[in-house]
Amino acid sequence: MRSRLNIGLFGFGVVGTGLYEVLNKSKLLEARITKIVVKDPTKKRGLPAEAFLYDKDAILKDDSINVVVELINDSEAAYAIVLEALKNGKHVVSANKKLIAEHLEELIATAKENNVSFLYEAAVGGSIPIIRNLEEYYNNDSLSSVQGIVNGTTNYILTQSNHGVAYEEALAKAQELGFAEIDPTLDVDGFDSKYKLVLLIKHAFGLVVEPKDVFNYGIRNIKPQDVKYAGEKGYRIKLFSRAEKLGNDIVGFVAPHFVKSDHFAYQVDNEFNAVVVEALFSDKQLFIGKGAGSYPTASAVLSDISALQFDYQYEYRKSIGNENVNFQDDFYLKAYVGSQFIEAINTIPFYRVDEVYQSETYNYQTGWVRFEDVKELDLNQLPDLSFIVLPDAFVAANQPEKLKSERIQYLTEFEL
Ligand code: HSE
Repeated sequence: MRSRLNIGLFGFGVVGTGLYEVLNKSKLLEARITKIVVKDPTKKRGLPAEAFLYDKDAILKDDSINVVVELINDSEAAYAIVLEALKNGKHVVSANKKLIAEHLEELIATAKENNVSFLYEAAVGGSIPIIRNLEEYYNNDSLSSVQGIVNGTTNYILTQSNHGVAYEEALAKAQELGFAEIDPTLDVDGFDSKYKLVLLIKHAFGLVVEPKDVFNYGIRNIKPQDVKYAGEKGYRIKLFSRAEKLGNDIVGFVAPHFVKSDHFAYQVDNEFNAVVVEALFSDKQLFIGKGAGSYPTASAVLSDISALQFDYQYEYRKSIGNENVNFQDDFYLKAYVGSQFIEAINTIPFYRVDEVYQSETYNYQTGWVRFEDVKELDLNQLPDLSFIVLPDAFVAANQPEKLKSERIQYLTEFEL
């Protein structure tokens, strides 16, 4: 049976405004926004001032409201709102990946205790219906990997860098278009991609991983020389969120990757996101769609609201029976490390070197590195160093036959 949905909306920014408009256009839904609560009374918005309230209790303590849609930027304030709404017996739809990734277990438990739904399709991949598919479609198919581009801002900047647009200019444009977070560090240093990866790992593999345990390295340090290297090799650079099975365990991290022209991500440009799911029976399946922006993100929120009409809840069935599966970091991967300074390249130990290039202005080295070594470094804070993953499979630490068991000696400066 369909439930009549009275929505209390928190936030009227890029996504909130989009939701208001798409909900008005979508005639099929038995849902209406009855109250909107925002923070700043002085801010100009697309509706008259009387349309807004400023006290969260106006929604949270209103018994006629059975759905809270939380679309605010402040993840701490959002946490308090979502928790209280669930405790007050209201269904919650949120797009706040940081809040959800940081409090996932508690929020799932609170929703369950209060027998309400907590849905967040818009938190990962914007318009791409990836959470619902992982929950429902792949329920009986054993997954081996979930990976892809899940941040529109960085994909926009990287795409523009192929056309010679400078980093700062591309970021400013991404902010203007409403793709970037209020604090764009979350985008460019890979935090946003990491929060989304945490949610993908929960729905794909049933594991709860703390964001602090997942390595994230973004695109801020990528230099024109790295983009040139990509061009010469026929690669493009893409920021990847990646989780896969290695033996019995799961490995996962966020880092820039070189992709070849036959790779699914090669042609995925601007704010588009793409996620590939690999499963035992269905093999590889690719989802592409707009990952950021007002209407695309609002469309995923709308879909969650629509699912609430039928009392839809996530069941987290992948979490059952996976007690022996761990999240681990002990593996090797093939990488490119570039810098103006040779000492900077030597920050990362190599276990096999495949290619070395030195010049007066730029140097790079490619080869196999141990992920545990890389994870110890806060690469986002090393502006002189570019670290980019090359397109090769990972090698588990217990099978390094093609690698040296000891790190090789440091790169030394040649006489030029
Ligand atoms: N800042 C995010 C992005 C918004 O660029 O993908 C959508 O989650």
